[in-house]
Amino acid sequence: MLPLIRTEQLSKQFGMFWAVNRLTLEVGEGETFGLLGPNGAGKTTTVRMLSCIISPSEGSALVAGHDITRDRVEVRRSVGILTENPSLYEKLTPVENLKFFAQAYGITNESKIRARTRELLEFFGLWDRRDDKVAFFSKGMKQKLAIARAIIHDPPVLFLDEPTAGLDPEAAKLIRDMVVELTSRERHTVMLCTHRLEDAEKVCNRVMIINRGASMVVGSPDELRVKMSGNPKLEVKLVEGSDRFADRVSSLAGIRGVEQFNGKLLITADDISKATPLIVKVLVEEGGQVLGVNLLLPSLEDAYLKLIREGGAK
Ligand SMILES: Nc1ncnc2c1ncn2[C@@H]1O[C@H](COP(=O)(O)OP(=O)(O)OP(=O)(O)O)[C@@H](O)[C@H]1O
Ligand SMILES: [Mg+2]
Repeated sequence: MLPLIRTEQLSKQFGMFWAVNRLTLEVGEGETFGLLGPNGAGKTTTVRMLSCIISPSEGSALVAGHDITRDRVEVRRSVGILTENPSLYEKLTPVENLKFFAQAYGITNESKIRARTRELLEFFGLWDRRDDKVAFFSKGMKQKLAIARAIIHDPPVLFLDEPTAGLDPEAAKLIRDMVVELTSRERHTVMLCTHRLEDAEKVCNRVMIINRGASMVVGSPDELRVKMSGNPKLEVKLVEGSDRFADRVSSLAGIRGVEQFNGKLLITADDISKATPLIVKVLVEEGGQVLGVNLLLPSLEDAYLKLIREGGAK
């Protein structure tokens, strides 16, 4: 996969303080990559560097193949950014806002602007409100319009800084779903900043957890679960438990541990998915009546909170 964002030891110093500290990462074309971390972790600062709003103090980065220090104009043209405080013109309508920002990106073809505006407003369900002033919009509607604004010029790379901040759960879910649909439809490569684990888990195919400006761990949500809080466990519910069942399962190759309580077995193994069919087979052979089998994934939230606490979040 071609990396569309690549940073090497990217760093930003404010006074004596390193807000971003030697961040090295790669985001492949078409990926939705999450930067997950608590307040003050350095997410916004990273995105501001990558979209050429501020310059790095040290290190380097390429965005859509352009160097963020040397090719600033090309980088700006290649990225769309939803900032923490979406700046829309409240006295203008959605159509007027989108036209203004399209022209700011150098698009002069009026019919092209009209077609893209309609396409985006229809996608976000704002077409019927196209002639209302943005000042009368709800927060969720403004956020949808702000995302439309960020991609009016159809950039290959999209930065979304806290896209669900300040929204109620229903509006947050709607925005999350729309981001997933939109990015797969338009094939943007996305970097999404969030302190909400749920957003990172549901929207991103890969996530980097950062704290105090530095990377702590990176991987898919499933990989992070394993890396941060150990292997999944298998829960086998039996009509009636017996030490015999626990002993028999313990004797199988690759089994690390078996706990037994209330007619349930909790089993850990080197590769629990691979071991499951054999576990069920030997239990049945031993005369066990299996009621159900569940793969218990460790909670990513617990692992995340533990990591952030140990990492010394502010
Ligand atoms: N212009 C600036 N001058 C001085 N310090 C700054 C500046 N911008 C950011 N910082 C500091 O850098 C650190 C990282 O800030 P940043 O906004 O990148 O964090 P964040 O991860 O986006 O946090 P949040 O979740 O609250 O948005 C913070 O301690 C912040 O106070
Ligand atoms: Mg921020």
